[in-house]
Amino acid sequence: MSSKIKKIAVLTSGGDAPGMNAAIRAVARSCAYYNIECVGVYRGYEGMMEGDFISLNARSVKGIINKGGTILKSARSKEFRTKEGRKKAHTNLVKEGIDAFVVIGGDGSFTGALLFNKEFNFPVMGIPGTIDNDIFGTSHTLGYDTALNTAVDVIDKIRDTASSHNRLFFVEVMGRDVGHIALNVGIGAGAEEILIPEEDLGLDRLLESLRRSKKSGKTSSIVVVAEGDKIGKNVFELKDYIDENLEEYETRVSVLGHMQRGGSPSCFDRVLASRMGVKAVECILEGTSNYMVGLMSDKIVITPLKEAIKGKSKINNELIRVSDIMSV
Ligand code: F6P
Repeated sequence: MSSKIKKIAVLTSGGDAPGMNAAIRAVARSCAYYNIECVGVYRGYEGMMEGDFISLNARSVKGIINKGGTILKSARSKEFRTKEGRKKAHTNLVKEGIDAFVVIGGDGSFTGALLFNKEFNFPVMGIPGTIDNDIFGTSHTLGYDTALNTAVDVIDKIRDTASSHNRLFFVEVMGRDVGHIALNVGIGAGAEEILIPEEDLGLDRLLESLRRSKKSGKTSSIVVVAEGDKIGKNVFELKDYIDENLEEYETRVSVLGHMQRGGSPSCFDRVLASRMGVKAVECILEGTSNYMVGLMSDKIVITPLKEAIKGKSKINNELIRVSDIMSV
């Protein structure tokens, strides 16, 4: 592959996600494979504006494919949203002789990359990394599969104590605006109800469903609630509402929180990260810019960053139907 590109930077930006390290490794190794230099940028766009770079070669990314978090660290940068901030970053990239960058992150990080490209005609590629799976143009974002497995594992444990005490647990899982984690984890952990922002179940239906569960002989119950669900103001208020209206239940709340973002990536996320990293570098070397690498029907595809940012990831309605049938 012949190209004018001699040096590619890679950064992780926004909320970290398992598989980011595997993607950094894939970018660095692909660069080594094609005989070009690779530079890691610390703390996302913050590090780009400060010129906080590290040279990466094939060996310097050894032993990280199985590690959670990101060795490059991550940040959400306010300053990069300003023209002055982006100018600083550009000056540093040029000084370092960097010809293009790959950003691993979510839609906020892609918005920054796109603006940067427009202002400086600088080649950029995106790799979707967020546990929320809320990016258009890919069936799976990096970290999503691992987060599902982490959450399901924890809810299995909550189930043990819930059934020992005949209790009802509200378990809040991550998903700022979307219910992908809640829906899948809810089905996987056998939840009685799953509350997601995409579907307004309504408090009456929830009460009705819990009454039915009790009557049908269920002794313990798990209700999985997506962080972004709008039904109650928050999961604790939901518990209070049930306490007031269904005295037959003893209720507890468990918020899983950031543990869902940590841990060793699943095999699926490691393979996905490797495929996406290779594709991102190959796109840059072929002269493709402003795209995000994604997965669709097990094929690696690319989507214009503009569409990835604007588009909405859709909830799978079949899963909603399955969860209704399973909670009979
Ligand atoms: O990026 C995804 C996410 O984990 C969301 O699910 C959650 O709402 C948010 O990040 C939490 O962000 P922070 O780490 O800044 O608290």
